[in-house]
Amino acid sequence: MERHYKIAVIPGDGTGPEVIREGIKVLQAVAQRTGFSVELIHYNIGGERYLKSKETLPDSVLKELRNVSAIYLGAIGHPDVKPGILEKEILLRIRFELDQYINLRPVKLYPGVWTPLRDKKPEDIDFVVVRENTEGLYVGVGGNFKKGTPDEVAFQVDVNTRKGVERCIRYAFEVTRTRDNPKKKLTLSAKTNVLTYAHDLWMRAFEEVGREYPDVNRDYAHVDALTMWMVKSPEFFDVIVTNNMFGDIVTDLGAMIQGGLGIAAGGNINPSGVSMFEPIGGSAPKYAGKNVINPLAAIVALSMMLEHLKEPGAATLVEEAVKQVTATKLKSLAAGKMGYGTTEVGDLVVDALNQVAVPG
Ligand code: IPM
Ligand code: MN
Repeated sequence: MERHYKIAVIPGDGTGPEVIREGIKVLQAVAQRTGFSVELIHYNIGGERYLKSKETLPDSVLKELRNVSAIYLGAIGHPDVKPGILEKEILLRIRFELDQYINLRPVKLYPGVWTPLRDKKPEDIDFVVVRENTEGLYVGVGGNFKKGTPDEVAFQVDVNTRKGVERCIRYAFEVTRTRDNPKKKLTLSAKTNVLTYAHDLWMRAFEEVGREYPDVNRDYAHVDALTMWMVKSPEFFDVIVTNNMFGDIVTDLGAMIQGGLGIAAGGNINPSGVSMFEPIGGSAPKYAGKNVINPLAAIVALSMMLEHLKEPGAATLVEEAVKQVTATKLKSLAAGKMGYGTTEVGDLVVDALNQVAVPG
């Protein structure tokens, strides 16, 4: 099999370009170390381009994105652009058009990382959230009436299709089955006590698909209770599957318990198409251009991308290098408090990577 990958790179806004630059440094080092090759195609997409030309995601770019091995995204979001434009026309459009129906977000406490949860150790915080990524409240179905008057009405429809729910749940069962975790437990998180139409569909699909996975333990938590357990007993979880909106919220909570946005990464996955990997922290405009942002989230996203590209050896190498850096070098994961600059942290990961033995 030819180990050559075409990677679309969208550095985007704010601190996106700085963290992606470090990610690419690590990508090039690990490619050389493990013997695959990459072609990088850079795209200028984001707030700056929009402010200059009113262009968000040109159709020609979207067409090219359909033909790459994976997409590596920094961040989208600009303080001078009204909220909703870049998010919907770039990020959500890529997710929807490329049918990236899974948002995979590991919540993992790396060694040496401070967590606000007192007494919790890396072995206690190690689960994955499988967030549905193309439906729910995110589809933009709705409307308003009598806007701006006291009689204003607004609808935002929560769309749940059997196909969309089922494929998400099936993916989550597969992740649980193959994960190296003895719990083999999949927790569905919904709100079946209130959303008795939509979440009844989720529950039935969960039970029906679950019968095909007798080796996986099925568990259920209402989403409000889930947030309590994530804080009190994160060791309870192995894999959590949930809808788009709830998944958005609980993965920010997850990011905090794993040490913050400096380390939290995610993948927008189409298992049979083109997937996109990103640090989940956003563009952090106040830190942009100062060499203070933590690039580790982008580097962990790179590791997820390598896993997805079926380069597990390279993925492990990158993750091990990140662990060494968190365990032995960084004072904190927070921007400006790491004890090193952005580029130095990238260099530390490359150095660590060159010292770790190549797995398998
Ligand atoms: C995320 C972000 C996006 C989302 C925004 C920027 C549209 O918060 O990736 O979690 O809500 O999905
Ligand atoms: Mn979010």
